[in-house]
Amino acid sequence: MKKTPPEIERLRGEIRTHDRRYYLDDNPTISDTEYDKLMKRLQELEAAHPDAITPDSPTQRVGGGVSKSFASVKHAVPMLSLDNTYTEEDIRQWHERVVKLLPKSEKPVFLVEPKVDGLSCALTYKDGALTRGATRGDGETGEDVTPNARTLKNIPLRLEGPAPSILEVRGEVVMYDADFRKLNEGEVAAGREPFVNPRNCAAGSLRQKDPKITATRHLRFIAHSFGVWQGGANIESHSEFLNACAAMGFQANKTESFDSIDDVVAYYARFRDKIMPKLPFGVDGLVVKVDSYAQQKILGFTAKSPRWAVAFKYPAQQASTEVEDVVFSVGRTGAITPVAKVKPVFCAGVTISSVTLHNFDEIARLGLKIGDRVMIERAGEVIPKVVNVVDSAKGGKEIKPPKSCPSCGARVLKEDGFVAYYCDNPSCPAQLKRTLLHFASRQAMDIRGFGEETVDQLVDAGRVKSIGDIYSLTKDDLLKLELWKDKKAENMLEQIEESKKRPLPKLVNALGIRQVGEKMAEALAERYSLDELASASLDDLQRTPDVGPIVAASITEYFSAPEVRSLIAKLKKAGLNFKKHAVSRANSAFSGKSFVFTGELSKMTREEAGEKVKALGAKTSGSVSAKTSYVVAGEAAGSKLKKAQELGVTVLSESEFLKLIGN
Ligand code: IVH
Repeated sequence: MKKTPPEIERLRGEIRTHDRRYYLDDNPTISDTEYDKLMKRLQELEAAHPDAITPDSPTQRVGGGVSKSFASVKHAVPMLSLDNTYTEEDIRQWHERVVKLLPKSEKPVFLVEPKVDGLSCALTYKDGALTRGATRGDGETGEDVTPNARTLKNIPLRLEGPAPSILEVRGEVVMYDADFRKLNEGEVAAGREPFVNPRNCAAGSLRQKDPKITATRHLRFIAHSFGVWQGGANIESHSEFLNACAAMGFQANKTESFDSIDDVVAYYARFRDKIMPKLPFGVDGLVVKVDSYAQQKILGFTAKSPRWAVAFKYPAQQASTEVEDVVFSVGRTGAITPVAKVKPVFCAGVTISSVTLHNFDEIARLGLKIGDRVMIERAGEVIPKVVNVVDSAKGGKEIKPPKSCPSCGARVLKEDGFVAYYCDNPSCPAQLKRTLLHFASRQAMDIRGFGEETVDQLVDAGRVKSIGDIYSLTKDDLLKLELWKDKKAENMLEQIEESKKRPLPKLVNALGIRQVGEKMAEALAERYSLDELASASLDDLQRTPDVGPIVAASITEYFSAPEVRSLIAKLKKAGLNFKKHAVSRANSAFSGKSFVFTGELSKMTREEAGEKVKALGAKTSGSVSAKTSYVVAGEAAGSKLKKAQELGVTVLSESEFLKLIGN
């Protein structure tokens, strides 16, 4: 065989590094254009030296052949499922059984990780090279989707470092929510039906006949278990396995470890309320696993599932009730949302009397009429929704879109290609109130006390007609409102003054530009000052991560309106912070560093500590490896601390950590 030209080797190495930075570390160091250039050069060189093409070259991800159908694959070891639990009582029962089956001297450590809502997939590596990707199928036999799996950029085509001679790693294929939104934006813009949810979309994308289509879908693989581990280093626990996965180049599932079931139960609520909402992909619960393989072996399996692991899922709670009426609420963009008023019903811990119907397409899909009996659902903190009609009322009243705005009486329009109806009046008081509430909300300018009541009073009195008017309010204005006294007015003005200092991402989010949420606002504020953003071109905007043609058009349209121009001028005059929010990741002393937090911290939660280091440009991980920069060990730190000591990773106490980050 001829020798591979060195430039080809170098380019492959470089591209692999960039894939890793982009897909695993979330920290790209070159632009997409630069990346494309490297790839194009490699393709040219390989075209000139076809002998040098190897199956693990990054150019081979895109997949050549189009398969007619998928061949069946018999799994070497069946892909089992997990038992589901939904309540504290059930998980405690599972724990009791574990403890009963283990010898008294064996105290189990529990690893708890997200139950990733994706498509299970098994990847086989022989001597470090990816040889097969298969779906789960019925657990015994799956489909061979190798060419498609090769297109996932966070799947290593060749394992890094020492690896077992045969490895069949298992995990979930997912589409991140942001990628899903972007894909659907494109589908709608092209006049096609949007995909229903990220999970279905990921499944459909992985099972494309043409791998080139899979390649455009930005799927990711999250490793969580294995079927075969042969001829490699001895691993003795699930945590060691996940660390090894990360070291071999996989995106491994993130875990927390606990040694008591009480802590697992406490984490269940904390994860649902604080962590789950921030994850970039869908999760439908936790998986609790006994960490030690020796203990797993003692516990063994039932016919269907392991005894050493269990899913601890979040129930979507349902209840049935009757739709008494449908009213229309006007959002800050003028979109009119139909809301069902239902007979009050107790569900998931609260009494529900209003349920969103989203839009008129949804009403048509449900076939809903007033008077129908419906099943409603409330999952986590999400707004309750109607699942289906369980009993259709005889002579039920049809629900029609309103002809005029329920708040201001202006005409109601529907834009082509969009499902929502809009109130056509930019100074509609209902829209204004929503706009103001959003502006002052916690995720935006965080003006405490500027809530629904205050907004109603100020708008109804005609004192506030746009966001800009907030900053010209005087004490006299406030004292004219019912029940306002000196102290309350002074506090309000102080809060308003304070809000002028908020960093630009908050302000950009606060403006309420359609399609621009918190994350997008951050990306924009990192590239532009507010003045620059207001005059940025469509092309330039699209160079911002996650900004596609629709978002870019929405931004330029927003800033082209004369009333927005005068609003921006007013805000500038009032002294709000318009400065670009430079996050100098590359220069920060924390850039590229990774932190693992373990044990109880006393001054903050581990999540909060994680947020702090991320704000400084560092990353956090759930597991310790030789690449970890710091392990911060709180009270009662266990296996992670031990691992750090074994690997010689720097261990910090909580107070040393606080000093390091300058707190
Ligand atoms: S461990 C014996 N860990 O859930 C099964 N599975 O009902 C061992 N899943 O199809 C798998 N997240 O693909 C494991 N963190 C996680 C998981 C996970 C999602 C899927 C898995 C399986 C199903 C089990």
